[in-house]
Amino acid sequence: MKQWFAMAALAAVVVGAQAQTFPGSKPVTIVVPFAAGGPTDRVARDLAEAMRKFVPGGNFVVENSAGAGGTIGANKVAKAAPDGHTLLLFHIGMAATPALYRKISYKPLEDFEFLGMVNDVPMTLIGKPQLPANTYRDFENYIRANAGNLNIAHAGLGSASHICGLLWQSNLQSKEAMTTIPFGGTAPAMTALIGGQVDVMCDQTTNTTQQIESGRVKAFAVTTAKPLSNHPVLKHYPSLQEMGLKGFNLTIWHGLYAPKGTPAAITKTLNDALKKALKDPEFVKKNEGLGALVVNDKRVEPEEHKKFVAAEMIKIKAAVDAAGKYAD
Ligand code: MLT
Repeated sequence: MKQWFAMAALAAVVVGAQAQTFPGSKPVTIVVPFAAGGPTDRVARDLAEAMRKFVPGGNFVVENSAGAGGTIGANKVAKAAPDGHTLLLFHIGMAATPALYRKISYKPLEDFEFLGMVNDVPMTLIGKPQLPANTYRDFENYIRANAGNLNIAHAGLGSASHICGLLWQSNLQSKEAMTTIPFGGTAPAMTALIGGQVDVMCDQTTNTTQQIESGRVKAFAVTTAKPLSNHPVLKHYPSLQEMGLKGFNLTIWHGLYAPKGTPAAITKTLNDALKKALKDPEFVKKNEGLGALVVNDKRVEPEEHKKFVAAEMIKIKAAVDAAGKYAD
């Protein structure tokens, strides 16, 4: 019996020491599974800046590891050392990619420690400047009449932009699906759209708000159930629901993850810092300025974060199966 107590006491000392020494001098890398300069990258950089304030000595850095709808970067973190120094910032793609790839080299619900959710970001349907439409109705009529000759950009199968495009087209039920053009992220996709090399994209307001305000792209609608009437730029666009797409309501949630097996003392330190970051006025202001809302509900708790992702996996798989040809 004495031996058991000695072991338990030793374990407590080790766990306590881990919490005290973390993160030490080594940086904490937040892996973004998309190209730099895009919406996921934006959230990660703002989050790193906020979390740095709440983890003593925490040198948070962001690293981009793009490709395959975010699954390359996610796999990199799943296989990383579980020491709290490699984290993943991933969005709806964590739940959507399993429905779209025959094989993914990690198991979303088993290979990660869930550290809590970060924000919900609306999306906007946007077009190249030359598109011959100015209202959503014109835009929709033009798409219906020309879908087979038009293309839509996204950040890879299962990415937020891909999911939005398939849900929107599936609701539109145009005779033919648009051709999809994949990129390493919606930052390069946005460059192509502004240059007229692609016709349409559905992207997060964290990436589109400034481009819309500057007139570099045309905007037609937002994907939230109701218009973003409090936002100075985005309030000018109707919701897809208002335009007749019944029940259309899509926002892109982002969550933070560590490799499975990361010590509980470290995941607690990170979750505590995340919760403080979500209340940091600067972080909140940055999100609201780009149309996003930081999470302030139970999804900041790891177990609720995991439950939410599990439910989203089921919901999105059903939507992808129903989308048929629009999911390619
Ligand atoms: C997406 O479409 O999933 C994201 O916008 C990708 C990105 O952050 O570039």
